[in-house]
Amino acid sequence: MSGTKGARGRRFEGGLDALAQRMNASVDFDRRLLDADVAGSRAHARMLARQGVISADDAAAIDRGLVEVRDALASGELAWDPALEDVHMNVEARLIEKIGDAGRRLHTGRSRNDQVATDLRLWVKDAATTLVARLGELRATLVKKAAAHVDALMPGYTHLQRAQPVRVAHHFLAYQEMFERDQGRVLDAIARADVSPLGSGALAGTTFPLDRAGVAEDLGFAAISRNSLDAVGDRDFAIELVAACALAQVHLSRLAEELVLWCSQEVGFARLSDRWCSGSSLMPQKKNPDLAELVRAKTGRVVGAWVTLVTVVKGLPLAYNKDLQETQEPLYDAVETVTASLEVMAGMIADLTLDEARLARAVGEGHLVATELADYLVNKGVAFRDAHDVAGHLVRKAIERGVELAALSLDELRAADVRFADDVYGWLDPATAVDRRDLPGAPARVRVVAELRRLEAELGLLAPATNDAGGSP
Ligand code: ARG
Repeated sequence: MSGTKGARGRRFEGGLDALAQRMNASVDFDRRLLDADVAGSRAHARMLARQGVISADDAAAIDRGLVEVRDALASGELAWDPALEDVHMNVEARLIEKIGDAGRRLHTGRSRNDQVATDLRLWVKDAATTLVARLGELRATLVKKAAAHVDALMPGYTHLQRAQPVRVAHHFLAYQEMFERDQGRVLDAIARADVSPLGSGALAGTTFPLDRAGVAEDLGFAAISRNSLDAVGDRDFAIELVAACALAQVHLSRLAEELVLWCSQEVGFARLSDRWCSGSSLMPQKKNPDLAELVRAKTGRVVGAWVTLVTVVKGLPLAYNKDLQETQEPLYDAVETVTASLEVMAGMIADLTLDEARLARAVGEGHLVATELADYLVNKGVAFRDAHDVAGHLVRKAIERGVELAALSLDELRAADVRFADDVYGWLDPATAVDRRDLPGAPARVRVVAELRRLEAELGLLAPATNDAGGSP
């Protein structure tokens, strides 16, 4: 393989060792940058012509040539050549093959160092915008699911022990909160990636009179970088996006775990659609939540990508180092994994069937209204610590008799505290217990419905102006 290919030039005598070429080449993964690379080169060439650095004719030839090369590489008509190292040299070499001399002027005032930094920022902005959309779709799916089950109750848990009754909708809306914050983090990452490094050269700018602001505007960047060493030498914008991805995948893993749990025969709160389950090659009765398990498991990969990225950059001296090439694969893998997981999760939630009867039965078993007994006594003037003690004693009695609290007689209650009266039984109804929790952020029906209406408006889920009060399909 010829050693003069790629970016080496006549400084070198022999070819690159085959092993070296294999480790050095990035084209197998950085081909994802094709669109960004061509967009960046077209904007650079247009600017060079505006500034009188190259002729208008050369710029026009470069522009046409770049579009042809891009389309030919994208369609497979032109094959990627690993001997050309990376996406940048593949595009430039093919451009020169196509249009000759004019193509040799494209790289004026530019280095692959500011070029790759630009491409990566464009890629991050684009991929992150898709992520924001996928997060929005999952949020909308959760809100619709919550709205469809606004009257269903379920046990709320701490330590995975039944704790107090809550609304199923409240549980789904808890996840919508997490994914809303994830969306915010991705948007933050976009804002900081939105800076053009073009014009930073290899590390120290360039002698040509480039219009940095003009290229930045042409490419849709909000600003230009202020320090050339920093602009070619950091990848914190990628690390930041992957950090947001890692947290989003952690949130996905929690929801995935709940799906696995809820769809087990032991719990049985929900059924996943056959579309999202696999069978067993041996046991004909099995229906396994494979996709939920995979979403849960992929968290290792995404968190690992963050660790990889941040470790590559740690301890690097300024400015560009080839180490930075190693930030690309974890970036792509993390973003692509989360994007796919969000889609799968939205599909699983949309198709999920809840067993409301089984959920209601679970709310009725396990003394979930014990706190109500304590609160009742507090309302009669008892100090909470003492009331808690009385309620605990009554729970123990109920467990001994093998009944729920509501089955204790008034005499039994009054033996524990004389302030109990007949109205206490009203307090022990789980639906009443939930609705008494009427504070901002709490699961009372009015609060949850208000949250649903707010979110439906924010996410554009309201049916177009009719008399439909429900607002969700
Ligand atoms: N593939 C390289 C990267 O991802 C492009 C920049 C190469 N620059 C260089 N000076 N070798 O970082």
